[in-house]
Amino acid sequence: MAFDSKFENGRVVTPDGVQSGVSIGVRDGAIAAVGAPSEIGAADSVIDLDGQYLLPGVIDCHVHVRSPGYEHKEDWSTATAAAAAGGVTTILAMPNTDPMIDSPETVQQVYGIADEDAHVDFQSYAVLTSENYDQVKPLAEAGVPGFKVFLGTTFGEIEPPDDGELYAAMQDAAAIDRRIGFHEENDEILSFYEEQFKKEGHDDPIAHSHSRPVVAEAEAVSRIMLLADHADAPVHMFHLSSGTGAELVVEGKADGINVTAETCPHYLWFTEEVMNEKGNVARVQPPIRDADERDRLWETGIHGGGVDCIATDHAPHTDAEKNIDEPFADTWESISGFVGLESEVGSMATFVSEGRLPIEQWAYMHSTRPAQIWGLYPRKGSLQVGTDADFTVVDPDVEWTGRKEALHSKSKTTPFNGEEFVGKPTMTVVRGTVTYEDDALAVEEGYGKLVPSGKTTSNAKPRSGPGN
Ligand code: DOR
Ligand code: ZN
Repeated sequence: MAFDSKFENGRVVTPDGVQSGVSIGVRDGAIAAVGAPSEIGAADSVIDLDGQYLLPGVIDCHVHVRSPGYEHKEDWSTATAAAAAGGVTTILAMPNTDPMIDSPETVQQVYGIADEDAHVDFQSYAVLTSENYDQVKPLAEAGVPGFKVFLGTTFGEIEPPDDGELYAAMQDAAAIDRRIGFHEENDEILSFYEEQFKKEGHDDPIAHSHSRPVVAEAEAVSRIMLLADHADAPVHMFHLSSGTGAELVVEGKADGINVTAETCPHYLWFTEEVMNEKGNVARVQPPIRDADERDRLWETGIHGGGVDCIATDHAPHTDAEKNIDEPFADTWESISGFVGLESEVGSMATFVSEGRLPIEQWAYMHSTRPAQIWGLYPRKGSLQVGTDADFTVVDPDVEWTGRKEALHSKSKTTPFNGEEFVGKPTMTVVRGTVTYEDDALAVEEGYGKLVPSGKTTSNAKPRSGPGN
């Protein structure tokens, strides 16, 4: 029986290495064969990748889709169009919506909206608060891949459970092998400095960064790991921003704590100087750190195993909410977050082209590992026969400049506007179907499907470089 399609002449990237001269045959949306071109039979359509890289589909496990409730910022159609354009095949949505995703009913609500509107595959976290901390099991049964707790105040102002409730929730999550992820900033430190800086009249963009010092992240990481250690529970640090945080995670892993961590391209690309160059465009929480923290995040996080995965924290807001016409005006009048789905592959490919990140480690951190952490593996995050045929095709030679006008998100605000990349996503394939190619969306809304999720894997030591 012929394949529906086959992908030829790609350089196939997996965490184990790069293989040239490998063809992939696809049938019914799944990978049906991987092998030498001579071993792969006929196909209805043949896609010649002409030496480009083919990675297991990039998974962005940190996307604020905003629907339900804040569709003026973003919706499932625009967020997933941005994903497809950016080379992303699966997104995991954040639950700080309105209503927030905190019950089996709201989980079904967001799944229903996404099922109608999504261009790529999806999942959604549920949030845990004082109201629902004891609902871990029913929420997992409703389908969510994991949970989010907002320790630091951020958009949506969702309060976390208290420590007793959190510890109990961790034990419940541990019992069913589900992971709780955190916005890990100590809220008391943040509010103290915000108030102090406002009183003293500091309102330039970098004042926002300095009001959320590294110690706020370090304290939260340490406290979560202490609770997780006692509860024997899997925990995850979303958007880890500092070398200090990464060093703590490395220590936690060495102590046997089942902790995983994510960082975002902006923490690796910029330093806090970007606040003086681009103003509140780059305002985000946790903030972008100084050069020393950034360099140590590379060293201990990326090269030393402290960081497991890459995600964007794609956080769209309107221009008016960001006060984008006056990026250097009073930072306390602006809002945190910016879009990232359409620059993440470009920024990571650029790190690869600069020799700072082995391409197989990129595939691991941006596809395999998030799939493992959130229970989507091996259906997602692998190129094994029988799994979903999700591919991110990257031309490593294309030099391009981030242009806000080209974005598919409703929000065009990103500090990556004007940045120069080497390596561009040229084709996005979800379950065997091309969703984006030649700068155009190639599927309708509703093509994207819910990804079933299961148990999280443990924090098996992440690879820290080629050959490890
Ligand atoms: O800057 C941020 N914006 N950080 C977050 O954690 C949340 C996000 C948002 O939802 O806007
Ligand atoms: Zn976020």
